[in-house]
Amino acid sequence: MKDLQNNSKNFDNRPIGFFDSGVGGLTVLDKVQKLLPNENYIYFGDTKNMPYGEKSEAQLLNFADKIFKFFENKNVKAVVMACNTTSAVTYDKLKNNYNFKIYPIIQSVSKVLSKMDIKNIGIFATDATINSHCYKKEITKYNSNINVYEIACPEWVKIVEDSQEGTSESDKLVKEKLDEMLKNSPDKIVLGCTHYPYLIDTLAKFAQKDLFIDPAINFAQYIKEDMKKYNMLSSSNDAASFEFYVSSSPENFKIAGEMFFDMKKAKINLTY
Ligand code: DGL
Repeated sequence: MKDLQNNSKNFDNRPIGFFDSGVGGLTVLDKVQKLLPNENYIYFGDTKNMPYGEKSEAQLLNFADKIFKFFENKNVKAVVMACNTTSAVTYDKLKNNYNFKIYPIIQSVSKVLSKMDIKNIGIFATDATINSHCYKKEITKYNSNINVYEIACPEWVKIVEDSQEGTSESDKLVKEKLDEMLKNSPDKIVLGCTHYPYLIDTLAKFAQKDLFIDPAINFAQYIKEDMKKYNMLSSSNDAASFEFYVSSSPENFKIAGEMFFDMKKAKINLTY
């Protein structure tokens, strides 16, 4: 990030960018727009290249760079990496390359997670996030006494993108990973992929709902406080505006995103 701290203005009315591989990041947009209801939001879902969790570091760097450049052209004030996978794999390498502030989900929420008074924490995430051990590294950086158990659930992303939540097949896939995790007696389990909160009702069929943490809740709070601190909030009193872009299958995005966003009125633009 360049120079935003030195900004002498008291507000910034430019839009905020959000991105993910698909509809997952809407779980974050939903929380942020509730806390910051007067901002302009631009969302990019890279549906053509999803699932990100199976991609190599080189591929993810390429996708993320392309999306950051897309947001550069949109003159945003900040970009929210509403995607754990790119936060884990690309943030450190790309963070100084653009002229706006970048908020990575994992690095922004790990401090709060580490301060919970618990012994065992579980992480459900994509293969790429789990292989990076980013959650484990970040959480234990703040609290070395906490045990972090990581399990990859790559199949869950497809369930959500294909709107298959609640089918017996998807329930089975969710339960399998949950049973594996429960062997570690976690006090809390982090839904470390932004697609997974779509499965909270499925998870709640097999365990207490309050066992699960959607990090988007703390993430939204963090973004609000940070933007306030650096005079980045909009001065507008108008209701929020939303622009959506995807790299393929806009209709699918509309259907799958409905759980977290009222998509009926939304225009989904195809780009790339
Ligand atoms: N929702 C993304 C994440 O938080 C990526 C899921 C995927 O495309 O594999 O990691």
